[in-house]
Amino acid sequence: MFQLSPQGKEKVLAELKRYESRQSAVLPALYIAQAENKGYISPEVIKELSRVMELPEANINEVCTFYTMYNKEPIGNHHVQVCRTLSCMLNGAKELSEHICSQLGTHLGQKTKDGKFTVTEVECLGSCGTAPMMQIGDKYYENLTHESAMNIIRSLK
Ligand code: FES
Repeated sequence: MFQLSPQGKEKVLAELKRYESRQSAVLPALYIAQAENKGYISPEVIKELSRVMELPEANINEVCTFYTMYNKEPIGNHHVQVCRTLSCMLNGAKELSEHICSQLGTHLGQKTKDGKFTVTEVECLGSCGTAPMMQIGDKYYENLTHESAMNIIRSLK
């Protein structure tokens, strides 16, 4: 069973106060809950947010499933998010994510055996002029080649 920490609950309630509609607070609330649940949203997290926010689970679930920034499965210590939108796609993003997965011995969305990495493809991260690019944690890595991407990934502990 998942329960928000007292601080997490306080943050969610603060988000509810910021908006006229409770539904508008779902995006930030999911972020808060995801951070407290090892980086992913489980059905128990949806239940807890539904209880705290006094919203139907379906209203929270529909937001969660629509956006790629909410993880639906447990993720590795490092979440490698490769942008797959137009500019990055035209500059080899698909081949890049395939290369990263094959080098790490994993598939998109699956944790590596050692639990260190999860690779996913995500929608535009707003750095289209320096495609292809990826985000790991809160850092952006741009103008990537297969080699530079793997050097960055291998340097992570
Ligand atoms: S298309 Fe990749 S950052 Fe915008």
